[in-house]
Amino acid sequence: MTRIQLKRLKELDRPPVAFVLDGQPTHALKGDTVLTAVLTQSARLRTNEFSRLPRAGFCVMGACQDCWVQLADGRSLRACQTMIEPGMHVCTGRAAEGETL
Ligand code: FES
Repeated sequence: MTRIQLKRLKELDRPPVAFVLDGQPTHALKGDTVLTAVLTQSARLRTNEFSRLPRAGFCVMGACQDCWVQLADGRSLRACQTMIEPGMHVCTGRAAEGETL
């Protein structure tokens, strides 16, 4: 069973948005932030580059900088302030830690 951080309770009828999470095709819902898209699929948003511990964001309002994630193309973005886009490939660092979805 996959552990997740967030469970959807409302607005389940929004259109799906296909994206890739750690190399696995999945989908979010239109209007999700990257943070919501990832944490409804995973227990972690990213791996802290210093402690190597899992992180899931903190403030969810653009202030703490704890939600920077990398895309497969090398770009970084603040997950709580960026909307998920079709085809986006988000990397949580989980694969580097030997974890899978
Ligand atoms: S969760 Fe704090 S800046 Fe995104």
